[in-house]
Amino acid sequence: MDTKIARVEDVQENIHIILEAAETIKNGGIVAFPTETVYGLGADALNPKAVEKIFKAKGRPQDNPLIVHVFDKKIDELVESIPEIGKKLIDAFWPGPITLIMKKKPVIPDITSASLDTIGIRMPDNDIALKLIELSGTPIAAPSANISGKPSPTDIERCIEDLSGKVDFIIGGSKSNVGVESTILDITVDPPCILRPGGITLEMLREYDERIYIDPSIMEKSDLNSRPKAPGMKYKHYAPKAKVKIIKGNREKTIEKINDLVQNYIENGLKVGIMTCRERVKCYNNNAEIISIGSENNMQEIARNLFEALRSFDDRNVDIILSEAFIEKGVGIAIMNRLKKAAAYDILEL
Ligand code: TXA
Ligand code: MG
Repeated sequence: MDTKIARVEDVQENIHIILEAAETIKNGGIVAFPTETVYGLGADALNPKAVEKIFKAKGRPQDNPLIVHVFDKKIDELVESIPEIGKKLIDAFWPGPITLIMKKKPVIPDITSASLDTIGIRMPDNDIALKLIELSGTPIAAPSANISGKPSPTDIERCIEDLSGKVDFIIGGSKSNVGVESTILDITVDPPCILRPGGITLEMLREYDERIYIDPSIMEKSDLNSRPKAPGMKYKHYAPKAKVKIIKGNREKTIEKINDLVQNYIENGLKVGIMTCRERVKCYNNNAEIISIGSENNMQEIARNLFEALRSFDDRNVDIILSEAFIEKGVGIAIMNRLKKAAAYDILEL
């Protein structure tokens, strides 16, 4: 398949590109596009044949439902009803990185919701995405625009790498600002439950209902008894080719341990990567590939750079990535959730 690739600098000036992409969606094609969280791969959410193409292009398991993206807050045609808490959160956080799970109306085909009776809906905070949805004249179902299992793409280059030749259109905008996928909140239950931590944090949500909590099964290694309620959370995810190991402890011990491990792995002929923060780049053995993903005092910056760092270790053909642990507070909860999954829960606690 020929994939058309175009970059949008400015929505007004480049409106013809967005119009062409919207035509593609209307005609049942699939389009990768920027959002504030990560890039998405979209199709007409109400057209089963179009949605099926997404699953094919990504190699995505059919039991993993898609998120439906809308361009305004009017969603009555898609859901049975909007619980009171939903109305408040939509007012407070849309457009923004939160997906709300609600009971769906029959207009949403089974393939989009993976046959569940619920649907996740969000309004992305990105001008290109909003214009694309508006001009398409239909809600857009979109998972992250990566091959299933890989870290989500946060810029157009990574979309091209994964999807060129597999999709009709890739539109680029700026780098995704949040960097981790949206928070998923199930509001079909009371109290509402976070199925995936993301850009809108637990603390922010508790301002609206202090009983909101995180599905306990998603922060720990899943076993046969724990089944995350977001089907996608059970899959190996966010994983680079390299093995990832998290080292958790106080500063001095972490640095010492990582340097010891690096020495050891190098002696055994392995190429090692270290993922750290700006403040500590200089503390490490520079025979390793060292990537700083931001300041330890700026968790937003760390979130923004996390997936790109995992991918660039692969570009450097690293065999093993040793990562510092980050503080599990605020967006740090989402960061550690993704990192633990990338590491298949291989955490060395000092
Ligand atoms: O930020 C985001 O949410 C990005 C951008 C593109 O919007 N999208 C995204 O989609 O991360 P995806 O498909 O990579 O992840 C969607 C997650 C999956 O884990 C899926 O199982 C869960 O949402 N999900 C979707 N619908 C659900 C539902 N009705 N009930 C429970 N979980 C659901
Ligand atoms: Mg994904």
